[in-house]
Amino acid sequence: MFIAFAAVAGYLLGSLNHHAECESVYLADTISQVPIGPSRSILQYNSSFAAPPRIEAGSEPVWDSMIPNGLGYIKDPITATETSVLSAFHQLHCLYTVRRAFYSNSTIEDELEAFDLGKERKPHVAHCFDYLRQGILCSADSSMPAVDTVNGFLGAGFPRQCRDFEELKGWAETHRAFDAHGFLVEMEHE
Ligand SMILES: *[C@@H]1O[C@H](CO)[C@@H](O)[C@H](O)[C@H]1NC(C)=O
Ligand SMILES: *[C@@H]1O[C@H](CO)[C@@H](O)[C@H](O)[C@H]1NC(C)=O
Repeated sequence: MFIAFAAVAGYLLGSLNHHAECESVYLADTISQVPIGPSRSILQYNSSFAAPPRIEAGSEPVWDSMIPNGLGYIKDPITATETSVLSAFHQLHCLYTVRRAFYSNSTIEDELEAFDLGKERKPHVAHCFDYLRQGILCSADSSMPAVDTVNGFLGAGFPRQCRDFEELKGWAETHRAFDAHGFLVEMEHE
């Protein structure tokens, strides 16, 4: 009797684990209604995004091209009845701010620069450290490229499944709450 129970329990536990591995589990009250499909992407170093900002050029087209018209702020009768911001674009905004602060030659005692968006730099950047940390934990990216000790860049050339960023950007633009372009526009919430 006990052995039979243990066998059944073992089978059930095994199938539960199996399901957890093979299927996505959705938490009903957190489901995003944004219909974004998967995309295939190869991880590779891109020096355009590693380079210091060329402030004499004003805006930075390679960075700005990731941000949709509306900056990722949306309003929509079905998906967002109140003005909302898509996390991916808020995360990019934070990364941009941290990068500009890293490369800046001015200290916080100096005048604010355009990328500070009128905010005191230290608490703004500090917020971004924590916001990006939580974004990484939330995604819990489980792709696992083999460790590459030759090129010195972990994961280079590794194909992985991503979500379709261009699709998300297009969706954000279609549902935008207002018109605005680029990283140097003030957003309402940090
Ligand atoms: C780096 O990013 C820029 C801007 O998105 C793109 O035009 C370029 O092709 C990329 N280069 C590599 C090596 O991926
Ligand atoms: C910081 O100073 C260096 C050296 O003068 C200069 O090349 C660079 O463009 C400056 N960076 C910024 C973001 O102003």
